Amino acid sequence: MKIFDINLKIILDSRGKETLEAELFSGDFSAKASVPAGKSTGAHEAFVLEPKKALEKFAEIKNEILKKDFKNQEEFDNFLIALDGTENKSNLGANLILALSLAFARLKAKEEGKELFQYIKQLITNDQQLTTNFLKPIFNVINGGSHSTNKKSKLDFQEFQIIPETNDFGMAFSLGKIFYRKLGDHLRQKFGEENVILGDEAGYCAPFRNNEEALEAIAEVIEKYNYPVRIGLDVAASQFYKDGYYEIGGKKYSSAELREYYIKLADTYNILSIEDPFYEESFDDFAALFYGRAANDFLIITDDLTTTNPERLKRAIEKKSGNAILIKLNQIGTLTETLKVAKLAYESPTQNCVGDENNWQAVVSHRSGETMDDFIADLAVGINAWGLKAGAPAKPERLIKYERILKILNLK
Ligand code: PGA
Ligand code: ZN
Repeated sequence: MKIFDINLKIILDSRGKETLEAELFSGDFSAKASVPAGKSTGAHEAFVLEPKKALEKFAEIKNEILKKDFKNQEEFDNFLIALDGTENKSNLGANLILALSLAFARLKAKEEGKELFQYIKQLITNDQQLTTNFLKPIFNVINGGSHSTNKKSKLDFQEFQIIPETNDFGMAFSLGKIFYRKLGDHLRQKFGEENVILGDEAGYCAPFRNNEEALEAIAEVIEKYNYPVRIGLDVAASQFYKDGYYEIGGKKYSSAELREYYIKLADTYNILSIEDPFYEESFDDFAALFYGRAANDFLIITDDLTTTNPERLKRAIEKKSGNAILIKLNQIGTLTETLKVAKLAYESPTQNCVGDENNWQAVVSHRSGETMDDFIADLAVGINAWGLKAGAPAKPERLIKYERILKILNLK
């Protein structure tokens, strides 16, 4: 495919920070893509170039791209990776490379007369059958840690999520929206109207004194209305790890003590998934958290530990550090590399939980600083992910992802 022209511009993300949007033009079509930004970013994520500098870099490479004719996604992505020439994309910036990579995918899909999710599915499977998942939405209904916007909140854990127990995405989405409203009522009653505000990912932020109080609030709403939902956590433990200890509520925990704490919480609140329970180098501590729960009933999700990076994932697989990897496109910087990581996960056995004959799963994720781009919805369907994590069912930049899934499911 020959690209006739490319525009790159700076737009604002959901936190009002500058980010990039690329638009590619071929003979008959054009396609746009923009990139999100994380706050609790992992140390091993690809490099993000300051957007103004990315514009300058882009001016240097634009003609190189326009000169070429690209057969497919892999050729385009590899060309950019080679142009960059560094390990972590520190020359061109993973944000610049990703904006181009995703816009290329959209453009190529249009050229081929396919929906984006179909195009992605073809790239990852060559039309072979992958796993047979029913995609689950993972709603982050209470925001803590670095995503909290309420100074009175003492939540160390970053995300308190609900995961509806239904195979019907439409029903799960409706349930998520109802739950979110009821939880809002519950929290406003408990803390007072003025004390409940929304965090970076549209979850509630209130003057919670500790993690248990947030879990308790969610459990109360589940119980009161008998909702079929499970609880998930993204602890983002690197954020409160220092000098060999985890500091939670002013108290220091060793990794062994933290493990005990998680087991207590998981059993008390029937927790389905825990993401990043330990800091981003602790492959062994992740593995030690499996404690005899059934494979389909306990997910340990690796995010900062693996940063959508094949080498990090290989290590996590070897060490049995989890059974699901969080997939964030901008942690690695191209669609091609992202799909390779998902494929590697699917081909790798976990062997950690009771009766486990499964392979690793993938959970596709947004970032805390988002745009109105809904690429990750097509990615989640295209790779047949276990789940899509796109924040609370509120605020347009989060809702647009869930709504795109509904649209895709109607197309299928
Ligand atoms: P981030 O948070 O986008 O700020 O990194 C999301 C996550 O940790 O999953
Ligand atoms: Zn995370």
